Amino acid sequence: MTGAVDKNVLIAPSILSADFSRLGEEIRNVEKAGADWIHVDVMDGVFVPNITIGPLVVKAIRPVTGLKLDVHLMIESPERYVQRFAEAGSDIITFHVESCPSPAKTAELIRACGKKVGVSLRPGTCLSQLENILPLVDMVLVMTVEPGFGGQDFIPEMIQKIRDLKRDFPGDIQVDGGINVETASAAVDAGADVLVAGTAVFGKEDYAEAISRLRTGK
Ligand code: DX5
Ligand code: ZN
Repeated sequence: MTGAVDKNVLIAPSILSADFSRLGEEIRNVEKAGADWIHVDVMDGVFVPNITIGPLVVKAIRPVTGLKLDVHLMIESPERYVQRFAEAGSDIITFHVESCPSPAKTAELIRACGKKVGVSLRPGTCLSQLENILPLVDMVLVMTVEPGFGGQDFIPEMIQKIRDLKRDFPGDIQVDGGINVETASAAVDAGADVLVAGTAVFGKEDYAEAISRLRTGK
């Protein structure tokens, strides 16, 4: 029995797997195909061993879509860039608890910019690291792969982490990494509300079918 069909699960395609030479068109296409949010993976080559995009790209895609821009900062000291990402048009800004000296201050900074606040944690980071910050955030992003690259396999041990978090946290639980129809279903059963998917959307021919399959788990 899967929970995916019973619940309003949000799908956030990750543009990391989009064709960057046609980024605007790709975003319009996933919006037409039924995506709920657009997930933007920001990497600095320091917090993770990959470099992707910055506030200029967020600003460029802002007028392309009416969907929420869900910006996932995988950068060291994200507090230095929160304001720039906010001004560029982000709606939700998620930072890593491991990446800054005072996660509570970073959360307050995002809130002060008028944006929704998300906090994320690497697969190896314990939920106890979030204890003080949970009351300050709207969303927790549970990484289900090691951050840095698309196309990796979902780490099955993260299902228990999602379940444990669900007991303590009333806000949105987002999962990111290795999400496909099977892992989507397992994550939703465990308590996930928002599914990030790169390969499982942009790697398919038919975006609408891909999004609908993730949403229903079938
Ligand atoms: C990984 C990123 C993910 C990535 C997911 O660090 O945070 O958003 O794009 O890609 P897939 O869905 O292919 O695992
Ligand atoms: Zn991400």
